[in-house]
Formats: sequence, C-alpha cells, structure tokens
Amino acid sequence: MYSISNVVSLLLLLLLSSNQSHASPTPGHLETRQSTTKKYCSPTTSICYLEYSWGTSIPVFRIAVPDSASTNAPFDTLLQIVSPISLGWVGFSWGGGMTLNPLTVVWPNGNGATVSSRWSPYDLSFVIALAPAEYLTLILNEPPFPTLIPSLQPLPPQIKQSANKHSPLRPPTSGRTLPSTYSSASYRTVSASRNATHWTVETVCTGCSKWSGGGLSATGVNSFAWAVSKTPVSQPGNSGSSFSIHNNVGMFSESLSAGKVPKATFDAYVKNAR
Ligand code: HEM
Ligand SMILES: *[C@@H]1O[C@H](CO)[C@@H](O)[C@H](O)[C@H]1NC(C)=O
Repeated sequence: MYSISNVVSLLLLLLLSSNQSHASPTPGHLETRQSTTKKYCSPTTSICYLEYSWGTSIPVFRIAVPDSASTNAPFDTLLQIVSPISLGWVGFSWGGGMTLNPLTVVWPNGNGATVSSRWSPYDLSFVIALAPAEYLTLILNEPPFPTLIPSLQPLPPQIKQSANKHSPLRPPTSGRTLPSTYSSASYRTVSASRNATHWTVETVCTGCSKWSGGGLSATGVNSFAWAVSKTPVSQPGNSGSSFSIHNNVGMFSESLSAGKVPKATFDAYVKNAR
C-alpha cells in the first residue's frame, strides 16, 4: 500500500515543511509583561527564593538553588508553588516552554499534594491528502539526534473535514498533548498544605537542572514557563494521572541569583524531604 521509499520521501517533505508552521507557537494568552520577579525571603525558614508572581489568579512560583550550583553540572532545585484553591493542576517548565524540557506538574491531593515529573516530545502530526482516511504522526524527541516514530492513524472526524478543504499537508493540531511521565527527574516533597484559599507545595527536584538538549545556567538568564488548569486531574493520588489542557500559560526569564542559598543551608532544609 505505502512503499518504503514513498514513506521516506514523505517524511523528508514533512520535516522540511514543518519548520514554518511549528517554529514557535505563541498562544494569544501567553503573558510576559505584567509579571514581577523579585527576591523573597521566607519569614519562617532560612531560605530566600527567586519569586515570580502575576496577579492573584495565578500561583506564586518560588525557586531556590544551592550557591554551589554551576552550569553544566547537575544540581538540585527547590520549587515552591502557592496556588489559588480554584486550580486543579499547576505546571512549571524548567526550560521556558512545553516541549523538550523537564516539567513539574503538581496538584492537591486531600490535605497534601502530588508531584508529577513530565516531559513533552515535539509531536508533529500532519494530514496526508494521499491517505484521506489516515494521517501520519511524527514524534520528534530528544535533540540533537531526533528519533522519528512514524505511524499511520485513523483521521479524527473534525480534522478529516478541514483536511479536505486545505492544503495537502497541514498540521491538524499544534501537536502538543498530555506530557508523558519523565523518569530522569525525581522529586521529594518538602511540604504540602492547604487552607480555605490556597494550596501550597514545596518540592526538591533532582534532574531538573540539566536535560537532553539543555539545562539551567547558574549565572546567566534562564527561561521558565508555567501552565495552570481549573480542572482537577482524574486521579489525584496517582502521579501518572491524566489531566486536561491548561486554561492559561505564561513565561518569564530571570537569573537564579536571587534564589541562591548557601549549600549547607539548602541541604539542611531539604534533608527530611520525602
Ligand atoms: C493535557 C495536557 C496538555 C495539553 C493537551 C497541552 C496542549 C498545549 C497546546 C495545544 C499548546 C499550544 C497552544 C497554542 O499554540 O495556542 C500548549 C502550549 C503550552 N503548554 Fe501545554 N498542554 C498540556 C500540558 C502542559 C503542561 C503540564 C505544561 C507545564 C508547564 C504546559 C505548558 C505549556 C506552555 C508553557 C505552552 C506555551 C509555550 C509552548 O508552546 O511551549 N502544557 N499546550
Ligand atoms: C492560606 O495560605 C496562603 C498561602 O500560604 C496564605 O497566604 C494565606 O494567608 C492563608 N490564609 C489563611 C486564612 O490562613
């Protein structure tokens, strides 16, 4: 039905044509301007953080690292999220976007919280006019040597309709879907709590400072991003739970200097985290 050489030339064509449509999606609701970043020192502990906030409906994100951290060497990262009670899940991206970097996703679970390690491959899906009932899915993962995982899938009805009206090759979606679990980062919870207005979780990550294709700079400016959803996850007690798409996302860029903590203080603070 589909000869190998046809499939290979299609793959090449798709790769070439993909650059344009997928270079850098910019959702309309992406916010960079009204946010603030500053140094925040906890009144009750010895930890100072780089704090990001953007109004009362978006969580406050606080990041701290040991002052021994150096670029290109892995180091632990501390992340505190103070979320309005109305949010079902909150995500934090260590590389400034949804794909190809470690994602920390947290949600409330009773009086505690669940922390989930995730990763989104750069997933490109295209409609092929030659196969009107099917589309070819390409998953590009792990730069700089991408793995191509082609598969022919039945065309979802809503895409089938628009595919007939448009160019032979076009992306049915921007390709971003539920991120998979990511085993190269692990987490220990420092604390989790909730009251009538907020839920809070603080977690220490081993594996969020360096990843395939990127990493945090200990001295320069880093790009971070976040995503929030109002919808609760399907299984709050399960870190592998599925959840639905965000209602809002945003990005910010900052150096880690405001969040550098003496190494001994950092280590003592996270020592009892589980
Ligand atoms: C079911 C889960 C998810 C789905 C279906 C999903 C889907 C999407 C889609 C379709 C876009 C592109 C929006 C557009 O072009 O208008 C997007 C962007 C984005 N998503 Fe997600 N997402 C999910 C989970 C997450 C999580 C857990 C994070 C964690 C931080 C995240 C962070 C972002 C960010 C920062 C953007 C904008 C920048 C970029 O495209 O990289 N998403 N997402
Ligand atoms: C609830 O928790 C949030 C976040 O820690 C805090 O800012 C707020 O003051 C708390 N509210 C009450 C009533 O304790």
